[in-house]
Amino acid sequence: MKRYEDPQWVQSMILSLDHNFAMAEFLGEDGLKDTDLQSLAPRLGAFHQDLAARRESGRLGFMDLPYQDQIVKEIRQISKPLLEWCWDLVVLGIGGSALGSRALHQALCHPQHNKFPIARRNHKLGLWVADNVDPDYLFGLLDALDLRRIAFNVISKSGNTAETLAQFLWIYRLLKGRVGEARARERLIITTDPEKGPLRSLVNQERLTSLPVPPNVGGRFSVLSAVGLLPAFLTGIDVEELLAGARFMDHRLKNPDPDRNLAYRLAALFYLFATAKKRPNLVFMPYASNLAGMAEWFCQLWAESLGKQHDLQGNTVHAGSTPIRALGTTDQHSQLQLYMEGPPDKLITFLTVDKFQHQLDLPDLYPDLEAMRYLGGHSLNELLRVEQQATAFNLMKAGRPNLTLHLPEINPFAIGQLIYLLEVATVAAGFLFRVNAFDQPGVEGGKQTTYGLMGRPGFEDYHREFTEASPPLEKYRIV
Ligand code: PA5
Repeated sequence: MKRYEDPQWVQSMILSLDHNFAMAEFLGEDGLKDTDLQSLAPRLGAFHQDLAARRESGRLGFMDLPYQDQIVKEIRQISKPLLEWCWDLVVLGIGGSALGSRALHQALCHPQHNKFPIARRNHKLGLWVADNVDPDYLFGLLDALDLRRIAFNVISKSGNTAETLAQFLWIYRLLKGRVGEARARERLIITTDPEKGPLRSLVNQERLTSLPVPPNVGGRFSVLSAVGLLPAFLTGIDVEELLAGARFMDHRLKNPDPDRNLAYRLAALFYLFATAKKRPNLVFMPYASNLAGMAEWFCQLWAESLGKQHDLQGNTVHAGSTPIRALGTTDQHSQLQLYMEGPPDKLITFLTVDKFQHQLDLPDLYPDLEAMRYLGGHSLNELLRVEQQATAFNLMKAGRPNLTLHLPEINPFAIGQLIYLLEVATVAAGFLFRVNAFDQPGVEGGKQTTYGLMGRPGFEDYHREFTEASPPLEKYRIV
């Protein structure tokens, strides 16, 4: 029996939320009242029905991903030969095609996984996520790896993304030169739309190995599809447990009561602080180094889903709140001063871990040194926990609202819950902001100008617009 099939184990792995320090009882005017939350109940009730209807009609593919057993089978099959010869997987992708696999790797693999020799990694692959076209970065990455032992997972839902395709072009030529054409092909796995797009055409043309991104799943909601699951599986993560965690959260989120539904409560808090409480910044601050990638993943999900010029009726609204990544305790010595005393424009969300894998106790070595004596007999675990509690408490005292998501442990089941929770909360917030959480029209302009400047046919006007725009004024250039 898998541990996630044991109801007792599952009960001990429940993710929870504590938002006391966001409420008026603790913060006075800076906090929310129960009535503020209750005022959203009718809209969240409507959202509950809307979500069910959209899911039923197949428009919310991300909600079905935890139930896709078939893809896990396909991944196992594709992985089998790779695990025999390959040491490292390099993901070529960007945005939603990159951040999820990096977050899973950071959260669920040994922190030094990539540095271990393959035997110590239990013959699982190291993972490198190349999500930029910085030439020195890409060259340096490949320079440090053994090309004969790498596979590349090219991930692009649209199959059209300039950065990913450019990386692919450079690498494919290099690979062919080093290992020959047939072997180079064996080293590629393409994850893209099952039918459409340039990468799918390439798969068909060159008969490359491929995995599908379901057409009804957008990039930033795709981590539980082949996009995140293949790299996770190859690096030794229990993807079945991850999906079980997401299913468990899905089950919890069936509760229509906004007072009991974690995603709806989270969305309501994030929305109310951004709007009624005029706090347009949302800090996401895990107290665990291994969860820094989860913060990065969430920030993209939140920013790209909700930052919209127009609402669903076409009114100009400039919706959204700006997500900010931070890490405890590290950023207590960097950002916290600002959060505590700077502009009162933030809601801070902590993510804590109740039980770490390791307990590091501190010895009582220098009884005469006051600065060290009090630490003896405690543990790093305790210090980390206490520092988060002290920070939350002092933020509250300073009238700075904050809330805490508690993970019982960092394991695939808990991370599956967290991912699914944050995805549904983001969609719920989209409903409250009245925006389309699934598009990203604001990034099109930059893409089109880039295409124009890079000479892509059909984008000549964008080239012209750029070159004919007013030249920069000398007075604003400082040399
Ligand atoms: O969330 C999104 O839709 C985006 O961030 C995409 O993931 C990103 O632009 C990459 O797109 P694609 O997967 O089509 O290459």
